[in-house]
Amino acid sequence: RTVAVLAGGLSHERDVSLRSGRRLSAALRAEGLTVEEWDTDAELLSRLRKEKPGAVVVALHGGEGENGSVQTILEMFDVPFVGTSSDGCRRAWDKPTAKALLRKAGYSTPDWVVLPSSTFRELGAQAVLDAMVERLGLPLILKPDQGGSALGTQVVREASELPAAMVGCFAYGDTVLAERFVDGVEVAVTVIERGDGPEALPAVEIVPENGIYDYTARYTAGLTDFFAPARLSEETAKAVEELALAAHKILGLRDISRTDAVVAADGTVQFLEVNLSPGLTETSTVPMAVEASGNGLGSVFVDLVGRAIERGN
Ligand code: DAL
Ligand code: MG
Repeated sequence: RTVAVLAGGLSHERDVSLRSGRRLSAALRAEGLTVEEWDTDAELLSRLRKEKPGAVVVALHGGEGENGSVQTILEMFDVPFVGTSSDGCRRAWDKPTAKALLRKAGYSTPDWVVLPSSTFRELGAQAVLDAMVERLGLPLILKPDQGGSALGTQVVREASELPAAMVGCFAYGDTVLAERFVDGVEVAVTVIERGDGPEALPAVEIVPENGIYDYTARYTAGLTDFFAPARLSEETAKAVEELALAAHKILGLRDISRTDAVVAADGTVQFLEVNLSPGLTETSTVPMAVEASGNGLGSVFVDLVGRAIERGN
């Protein structure tokens, strides 16, 4: 039976997803699988009904591909798929929820506040910004509470930059997650479930040339240096792997996830977020981690497809 790779979609990360989908499809075909690349649009439901793929791999990023919507559809149609269930997606896709659950479990995550746009309208924009800076200090980082690829994310060093940065962030959603900015070594840790449960792959260290890992630095070859495995002490490497495994379990993730974290100057490991459908592009860290672990992207996903089919949905 056919494996359908779902990519594209309507989120801001459509282009990234098309790149992930292309790369993954090629890797699966190279392993001998029959693969179709499906764009994810209004035809999805009728296509699922008519063509009943043997399994689906969700290579969508952002919005419906990670917030549980597409997963709900796949569950309704009883189509086995690689990745986290709709329920897990809903829990983990919301960055403040994920942070709160990790903090509750005893892990460090930068202090934060969540500010829906209504707060600014109802309580006065400047007063809210002042309170936010008082609480978090500067610099701070603004992120849409849900979203990916750093779209809408703004690092704010001076209070005078805040109003414009807020507007930039609200362009991507109705609620802002404001977080204390932690300077340090940025790492991404992939977790894969094969055989005996979740396994952390070597952490990948991310060093953007201009210091900020924004959309351009993510997807333009040469603008960011990557180290796989990350240049960490054995103890810190263990700590970041442990964090990624904990996040995978605590948030109820399945098959594959990527946890993003910062190793702060004081050596503490700070949880930032998880990614339910991590990028698989030429400049994405999951394929680098897979390679550093001595595996191939295709063979890893063949295993994940096999697990999904065995599990059913
Ligand atoms: N949201 C992008 C695709 C990533 O996490 O890799
Ligand atoms: Mg992300």
